[in-house]
Parts: sequence; C-alpha cells; structure tokens
Amino acid sequence: MKRLVQALLEPARRAKGLLHQCRAERARAALLRRDMIEGVDPEDFEASLRDPTRYYLRSFQDFHREVPGAVRAHRTYFSKERRGFGEDAFHAMWWRLIRRYQPKTFLEIGVYRGQTISLVGLIARLESFACDITGISPFTSAGDSVSDYSEEIDYHDDVLRNFQHFDLREPRLVRAFSTEPAARDVIRECPWDCVYIDGNHDYEVVQADWRACADAAAPGGLIVLDDAGLTTSYRPPPFATAGHPGPSRLAEEIDRSRFRELLQVGHNRVFQKVVL
Ligand SMILES: C[S@@+](CC[C@H](N)C(=O)[O-])C[C@H]1O[C@@H](n2cnc3c(N)ncnc32)[C@H](O)[C@@H]1O
Repeated sequence: MKRLVQALLEPARRAKGLLHQCRAERARAALLRRDMIEGVDPEDFEASLRDPTRYYLRSFQDFHREVPGAVRAHRTYFSKERRGFGEDAFHAMWWRLIRRYQPKTFLEIGVYRGQTISLVGLIARLESFACDITGISPFTSAGDSVSDYSEEIDYHDDVLRNFQHFDLREPRLVRAFSTEPAARDVIRECPWDCVYIDGNHDYEVVQADWRACADAAAPGGLIVLDDAGLTTSYRPPPFATAGHPGPSRLAEEIDRSRFRELLQVGHNRVFQKVVL
C-alpha cells in the first residue's frame, strides 16, 4: 500500500523538483546579470554577521567575478559528474578565509570526494604556503538522517585521483567515523589551525565532533561548521540552502567566551578560538 501511494505521488514530486530547479536557475541568472551589490566588501567578515543574506549574494558574485580563475575551474570540475556538493559562494569563502589565515594544518571531518580539502591544497599552492591536510571519513556510502550517497564509488581512491587531477600533494586520509577511537586519536594529535566539520549532521554527532575539535583547535584556530544557518537571519536564495537542524542548534550552543563568530557565508559558519 505504501509503495502504491509513493508511486502515485512520484509525478507530483518530480514536477515540484523541476519547478524548484527552474526557479533556482532563474535566480542564479538574475544575480549574475545584476550589477555588483554595493556596500558589501567580501574582505569585511563582520559584514557577513550583520547581514548574512546580502553578504552571501555578494559572495556569489565574488566567486563569478573576482576570485582567481583556478579557483573557479576547481569548482567547475567538482560540479561535474556529481563530484561534490557545496555552492559557488563557498569557494569564494574558502579563497578569502584560507588566503587570510594561511593554516599550516587543516582537518576535515566528512570528506566525500575531496572537493574542500583539494581546494584548500590548491589555495595553499596559489598563495605559496605549506599546509598539511588530513581528512577523517568512512570513505563509504555511509550517510546520516539527512543524506544518502552512491554505493558505486570507491571514495578513498576517488579522492586521491581528484588530488592527482590538480597535481596536489596527497592528503592524509583516515578511514574512520569521527566518533571512533582511531579518529579521536587523530583529532587530538594536533593543535589544528583550521577544522571543517561536515560529517554526520545529526545533533549528537555534530556536538561530539565540535567538543573534540574545540579542544584540539590551536589558539586563534578556526572551526568551520557546515549546514548551520537555520538559526540565523540568513534567508537563502532559491539556489542555496540554510542548513540542517543538528549543526544549526549546535552553533547556538557554542560558548562565545571560548569561540567568537568570525564569518558566515550561507549555511557555513566560521568560529575562531579565543587566545587566552
Ligand atoms: C556532505 S558530505 C561531505 C562533503 C565534503 N565536506 C566536501 O566539502 O566535499 C558528508 C561526508 O561525511 C561522511 N560521514 C558520515 N558520517 C560520518 C562520520 N561520523 N564521521 C566522518 N565522516 C562521516 C559521509 O560518508 C560523507 O562522505
């Protein structure tokens, strides 16, 4: 019976999806045609906290008009054949953030096919500094309550191939769930200059990831929390999303005497460990 209902509802679901895609494409095209949004400097990170929606739209324009061609080409590569998620504006965010803070150590929890870690490697090369990159992920199709992944890819080899495509030094890939002891040991190893939490988005797991990374972050180090924009004033355009409940709730619980909020680009929120 359940299957029959699902089959009957399928055409409506598809039509809704197509309609949404059309609206998203129209909104993207309109923003590309529009004059540069005035009064928002992408280098003014505080502006993103005052008006995250306007800053996001400006970051989208920043990606298409101001970031280096190599960064745009990287996004084009990962946008093909479902190699990555993310949004154009996030490439602009990583470009400005990594260039400014030049982390020597970078940790990603939840790697998928390597879009973000290879972008960090690429920006480090463009800006001529060395960055050791580590990724913790099951490298399987393991998802969470909000995501499903294809079972047909060898994710570990795929990440390495994508690094080779950009001629980047191999990252250290740790095959584990972030909550496993082997992963916890790796997180504790380093005072990390920059961490990106984007693994399992369920509240309990994000909370555990945050706690482990908050302790392991270097003084002045950054933690970027993905999908955490639901609890802010950010209102995404039709081609973007505000995130998921787990990370968004966690972001509101962060102790602001230990971490100050530095930047928000859409559903990505960046926190900096206070130097005591
Ligand atoms: C949204 S994707 C990550 C995208 C990636 N951060 C990027 O920017 O390209 C989430 C990834 O986290 C992985 N994952 C799921 N649960 C995890 C966990 N507990 N620890 C680490 N990774 C996990 C999934 O298998 C998937 O590859």
